[in-house]
Amino acid sequence: MSRLYTPKKVGAYSLSHRVVLAPMTRLRTIQPGDIPSPMMADFYGQRASKDGLVIIEGVSISIPARSYLGAASFYHDGQVAGWKAIADAVHAKGGRAFMQLIHGGRQSHVEMTGGVDPVAPSVVPFEGVALTKDGFVPASPHRALGIEEIPGIIEEFRVAAQRAFDAGFDGVELHGANGYLVDQFIQDGTNKRTDAYGGPVENRVRFLREAVEALISVWGADRVGVRISPSGEWGGISDSNPEATFSHVAKVLDGYKIAYLHVIEPRIKGDSTLHEGHGVVASAYLRPHFTGTLIAAGGFDREGAQAVVDSGVADLVAFGRHFSSNPDLPYRLKNNLPLTPYVRDAFWGGDEKNYSDFPAIQDVETV
Ligand SMILES: Cc1cc2nc3c(=O)[nH]c(=O)nc-3n(C[C@H](O)[C@H](O)[C@H](O)COP(=O)(O)O)c2cc1C
Repeated sequence: MSRLYTPKKVGAYSLSHRVVLAPMTRLRTIQPGDIPSPMMADFYGQRASKDGLVIIEGVSISIPARSYLGAASFYHDGQVAGWKAIADAVHAKGGRAFMQLIHGGRQSHVEMTGGVDPVAPSVVPFEGVALTKDGFVPASPHRALGIEEIPGIIEEFRVAAQRAFDAGFDGVELHGANGYLVDQFIQDGTNKRTDAYGGPVENRVRFLREAVEALISVWGADRVGVRISPSGEWGGISDSNPEATFSHVAKVLDGYKIAYLHVIEPRIKGDSTLHEGHGVVASAYLRPHFTGTLIAAGGFDREGAQAVVDSGVADLVAFGRHFSSNPDLPYRLKNNLPLTPYVRDAFWGGDEKNYSDFPAIQDVETV
């Protein structure tokens, strides 16, 4: 049997298998107020398994951090009950839930930020999108953060982490991937600063370090993960030397002894489809630089996931799209059962249909 179905200690937790739910923004909060909906609790509860790890979709830490109408956030008390219900649904199955915390940075629009200009490390032309009540629209022009503003954003990460703690989650994951604010600081295509947060990679990871330290101050390192996407394309992001940059990131994070490093393979295109024929490269080159637990993500099927864990390149594998339509994915993979195809039209926004109504095999067998 593959090691994919064997126990693994991840930070503070002993997991029973290594099939992880990848964070997926599904735009199903209740408006106004971004209230987590009962169908979200159903969705996560269905995908939880005994001592399995689910990672909650990107949760914006403040109003200016938001990018997409309907996306998850956690910055006001009216959201507490909804988030508690989600943590409870995962725990009812014996699962563990880490909440992914995000600041969208320049990937936003004034309608989503509360009327203020989106912020970024530097002003660099950007043709990306945000989602408002008018649908996908070009991102608003952004402005460069003043150095004196940075502690305030780090503090928002800390407060959001505290909210996740108080709501009963098991940990937090910093969204350092996919061209959002943390990634905008890391990569030199978007970070043109000349102060302590820009220039050499040691400076470009300063924002990442401070955000990680803020999360650790609440949770302890063994309940904090970080997600990165070396050579990812989403968000118009780029770096002149991704391998050097992200090897440094991995080394820096290794020093914190965090629960895990979560790596999206560059074979995933910006629109979450696959560059055909590309292998697992980022996890492989990062592995020597990170001695802790490594989660690989991006374009995995059963065979690929088993191979990457059995070879030792990764310790766990996160699945996005397949998990969206197979709530009992770990069970199906282990028993080599057929997978239900995912429904892309229902990914971003909608109701329960093709979201929380996919049956588990056991449900089908008992019908
Ligand atoms: C609908 C959808 C929403 C996503 N939202 C997020 C997100 O909130 N945070 C994140 O880090 N990645 C997000 N991703 C990326 C996934 O976590 C994952 O890395 C990607 O789908 C590739 O994995 P897969 O081939 O198993 O689907 C999203 C992907 C999809 C399809």
